[in-house]
Amino acid sequence: MTDLSLRQLYRPTHDENARHRFVGALKGYANGALEASLDTLYTRQIEPDFRARNGRAPADREEATPLFESEPLYQLWGSMVYASQDFMWQSVGETCRRILPAFEARAARTSGQAGGTLTLSPSLPLPEPIASTHIHRQPGGYFASHDTHALLTGLLYFGTVELYRAAKGLSANAPVGEPGMARYILSVIGKHYPDLKPRRILDLGCGPGTETVGLKQAFPDAEVHGLDLSAPFMRFAHAWAEDLGLPLHFRQADARDTGYPDGHFDLIVSHILCHETWHDVLPAIFAEAHRLLAPGGLLLNADVPYQPARLSVARQVTNHWQVRNNGEPFWTGFADTEVPALLASAGFGEDEIHASYEPLGAGAYYFFGGRRGRASATRRAAA
Ligand SMILES: C[S@@+](CC[C@H](N)C(=O)[O-])C[C@H]1O[C@@H](n2cnc3c(N)ncnc32)[C@H](O)[C@@H]1O
Repeated sequence: MTDLSLRQLYRPTHDENARHRFVGALKGYANGALEASLDTLYTRQIEPDFRARNGRAPADREEATPLFESEPLYQLWGSMVYASQDFMWQSVGETCRRILPAFEARAARTSGQAGGTLTLSPSLPLPEPIASTHIHRQPGGYFASHDTHALLTGLLYFGTVELYRAAKGLSANAPVGEPGMARYILSVIGKHYPDLKPRRILDLGCGPGTETVGLKQAFPDAEVHGLDLSAPFMRFAHAWAEDLGLPLHFRQADARDTGYPDGHFDLIVSHILCHETWHDVLPAIFAEAHRLLAPGGLLLNADVPYQPARLSVARQVTNHWQVRNNGEPFWTGFADTEVPALLASAGFGEDEIHASYEPLGAGAYYFFGGRRGRASATRRAAA
């Protein structure tokens, strides 16, 4: 029998694939056209009605939210978003549980083949509220140890990334597990910091590590590390990298207290860490990253571009619905945070701070960070 790689083993059956496609299409509709129709509802009906009664528009999302709650279209949207999330975990869970035994057996065979490392910290206290939060409503959350199924937590997360990639048509020409976000982040780094040639790289909040792989592929001579609070994600990340033959170094730790020496890294990146950790720890995370950067080193975080000034009122209301109902508890806390000010308090000089919105498809990502000891070409004003 052929010994399939982990990448080859993640292959939904025909029927599973049909269900994944259905969920992807349902999500695409609910989060796309249906959500957009709430903008129209607001501008044509909700806001004019409120204005007629009060002589002004609703002041903010708090005042606008109850106006939406009695609307059948909003109720339909919320029901569809909630149900599609359930369907996603059911259909991805079906695939992951089916392939898990072969996946684990293969990982056990290839562990150690690439020379990467896995450092777990069983005594690390998992901070609240993140420890007891099931982000994205992932069954078991990010920290479930699934004792007999060590790779299931990472595999479930991975499966949803694949489902979204397929729904966006991104998987047709790219292999399973393609680190597309890492490539995008690297393209932004290349655009703003073409001189950066990192020898040591850290991916903060690297989750299952599939994007960390992209950093190593782009800088094969660099030492590449990934760090996350979640032990199950670190186990998955190690298995995935070893199976690809890439010597990466994964560590379970809190991004506020990483344990690496001062000035250890030339490049620190994060992808969607900052909206998945509670916003009041961001100053400590940025201060730790500042400590870890070598002179000339760069911290660059990529995250959701949902700052209220950029969003319609309807979109602010629906985003906050996701906080209350759909496993995105830190979304608006992050979006409401004035991130460049936190970077300044963490030690980055005003002229070292980076903040910019960078296009991706029809949307954009928010990039923020700083370069130690170098004036940033992209100043706060650009944000
Ligand atoms: C949405 S996931 C992103 C994973 C990965 N960067 C990716 O793009 O696939 C966010 C990750 O941040 C991690 N995280 C949240 N707070 C953290 C903290 N204080 N220290 C380290 N990791 C943290 C979570 O465990 C989770 O794996």
